[in-house]
Amino acid sequence: MTQPTAEAREGGSFPELEAILARHGYNPGALIAILQETQEAYGYLPPAALRHIAARTRLRPAHVYGVATFYTQFRLQPVGKRVIMVCQGTACHVNGGKAILQALSEELGIKEGETTPDGEFTLQTVACLGCCSLAPVMMVNGEAYGQLTPEKARRIIRDLRGSPASSAAAAAPANETGR
Ligand code: FES
Repeated sequence: MTQPTAEAREGGSFPELEAILARHGYNPGALIAILQETQEAYGYLPPAALRHIAARTRLRPAHVYGVATFYTQFRLQPVGKRVIMVCQGTACHVNGGKAILQALSEELGIKEGETTPDGEFTLQTVACLGCCSLAPVMMVNGEAYGQLTPEKARRIIRDLRGSPASSAAAAAPANETGR
């Protein structure tokens, strides 16, 4: 789905959200579903959208905000085209996960939780990606890269930079994990 412009999101104009709310009958009991669909439509939950949801469902803004911040599935900040999740779980930590995070941070010029100014990459950390035998591991838009070294992680980012986001997997295939 083509996401609405930043002006539309920040300016409080939400035709897509209005359609979502109408579909749910402005039902406060459907708040989670409304938030999920809103995030799908805009890529994240803009503060103005949360206020709009509160007004239209007659819920207190603090309640809507509280639910949006309670569940980790919800994002209150826009993310880049590629979301990098660097594992900092035990197995990855003892195998150099911190150095991987530092290398990525230097390569991208951003800290954990930030997005590059060109909107290309968001750098996040997670507790475990479920493939500990490949530690240290990172995941980019759902594609796992294992047995990383700082230099290998930097190279993967450089390769991805030159390819469209939709072909992230093609830029560095699954067997990258074994290199
Ligand atoms: S601890 Fe990193 S994948 Fe499990």
